[in-house]
Amino acid sequence: MKKFFSVDDVVNVYDLIEKALFLKKKPYNFQNVGKNKTIGLVFFNPSLRTRISCQKAAFHLGCNVWVLDINKDSWKIEMNDGNVMKITQEHLKEAISVMSIYCDILAVRTFPSLYDKESDYKEVIFNKILNYSKVPVVNMESSTLHPLQSLADMMTIAEYSSFFKKKCKVVLSWAPHIKSLPHSVANSFSQWISKIDQIDFTIACPDKYDLNKQFSKGACITHHQNTAFINADFIYAKNWSSYSNYGKILCENSDWMITENKMKLTNNAKFMHCLPVRRNIVVEDAVLDSEYSIVLQQAENRIYAAQVIFLELIQSLS
Ligand code: CP
Repeated sequence: MKKFFSVDDVVNVYDLIEKALFLKKKPYNFQNVGKNKTIGLVFFNPSLRTRISCQKAAFHLGCNVWVLDINKDSWKIEMNDGNVMKITQEHLKEAISVMSIYCDILAVRTFPSLYDKESDYKEVIFNKILNYSKVPVVNMESSTLHPLQSLADMMTIAEYSSFFKKKCKVVLSWAPHIKSLPHSVANSFSQWISKIDQIDFTIACPDKYDLNKQFSKGACITHHQNTAFINADFIYAKNWSSYSNYGKILCENSDWMITENKMKLTNNAKFMHCLPVRRNIVVEDAVLDSEYSIVLQQAENRIYAAQVIFLELIQSLS
């Protein structure tokens, strides 16, 4: 593996999930692999899980880690080319090039604008980062994708389905939110699920919230949440803003909140969410606090998702 931008960088998704689950059992099995290696974690946007799980993953491999929160601790970065830089102090080109000199793997988080659809969906910023970096790059959430989250989600489904032993029904359900949110978790989840033959996948969302077909192709798409929940084995709740009316909130209907009553329609489904989650807007307390909520297992698996990716990249360094 030379970079980790999306599931397309993975040779065999099943093998990767198996290896990540092995690392969960034996986190220190490769503790010398990262000796004298440094991982740089660069955040253009806030994070709790991604930041700490990546640090923990790197420690398990014996790597050094540095973390930079660009907005708090660095110069104001110019993302566009050709501008007279009267407000910004450093261009992305120098910033990424320099930071990549200071590490062996560079992991970056950069969210979408949610107003320039073309630029966001062409991943203009992340492609520049891939281009400017002198070392392998890991996507810690870009404009359209969040592959470390999706890998952790696949691990979690694998754990609760005896490694996809029998066909299971997974429903990605849109849920309400008060802010306009990216599509990255939903896109990425859909993309990874499409690689798992044993999953029967449904996306439930209000009208005008259909995801970009590039990511949702192969899924059964419905605008009827209750119908979707019938016989589901996993309910994955997530809000996203509109794709067709880009970045806009078109539905403030609390009827789409995940409730105990809706979970009763399922086949004793597990409840999933990537976190952070707004209680009693996205999901009722009773669901999040129930024994069928597996959100903490998902968060724990973020460590081993990051660890397996760092391990693959370190092993590929010449
Ligand atoms: N799920 C997730 O990526 O969490 P953070 O935004 O806290 O990193």
